[in-house]
Amino acid sequence: MEQLIRQNRSYRRFYQDHFLAVDNLKYFVNLARLSPSARNAQPLKYYISNDEPVNAKIFECLSWAGYLKDWDGPEEGERPSAYIVVTGDHRVGDNFYCDHGIAAQSILLGAVEKGFGGCIIASVDRQKLREHLQLEQQLEILLVVALGKPKESVMLDNIGKDGDIKYWRDDKRIHHVPKRQLDDIVINFS
Ligand SMILES: Cc1cc2nc3c(=O)[nH]c(=O)nc-3n(C[C@H](O)[C@H](O)[C@H](O)COP(=O)(O)O)c2cc1C
Repeated sequence: MEQLIRQNRSYRRFYQDHFLAVDNLKYFVNLARLSPSARNAQPLKYYISNDEPVNAKIFECLSWAGYLKDWDGPEEGERPSAYIVVTGDHRVGDNFYCDHGIAAQSILLGAVEKGFGGCIIASVDRQKLREHLQLEQQLEILLVVALGKPKESVMLDNIGKDGDIKYWRDDKRIHHVPKRQLDDIVINFS
């Protein structure tokens, strides 16, 4: 489990022409379906895409890696080859609690286990995406999970004394993610 979670990084550069089949995407959604849901209400609905023109429309609506000021997101050829748009159905309820976070993590863990990877994106132009996908009003866009065959290395580092949490890229384009240390987050045992 630790190995899977360590490998499950936020990947933002992909082999764009590495195809992800609809069956794979449905397999990931099924993992989300089997995940916990507050009050067991199961309000989440999923829009999946592995279609290049639809992917391009979704890509337009996403913001990538806010801390990397000199990078506008993956260039053509390194973009995700699939997406799962996680929506909350207001016909089921108006509070989605943290269901979408749990669902997104299940999707990503499944993706990593199958040799893929991805990134949760919450910085989404929801109005534009709704129009592009012609989603009905009752479906609120909560998150987009970008997926593909990762083309980048991501390293976990310990947060330094300066406490800086910003991820960064080195000159070999390795993406570094500072993580707080265990002793700094367990509050009652050291
Ligand atoms: C709820 C949530 C929203 C996120 N939104 C974005 C986003 O809009 N754009 C992006 O590039 N990354 C986004 N991320 C990815 C985080 O930046 C990433 O998890 C963090 O930098 C730590 O890297 P790691 O996932 O490899 O541990 C999001 C992650 C979460 C959990």
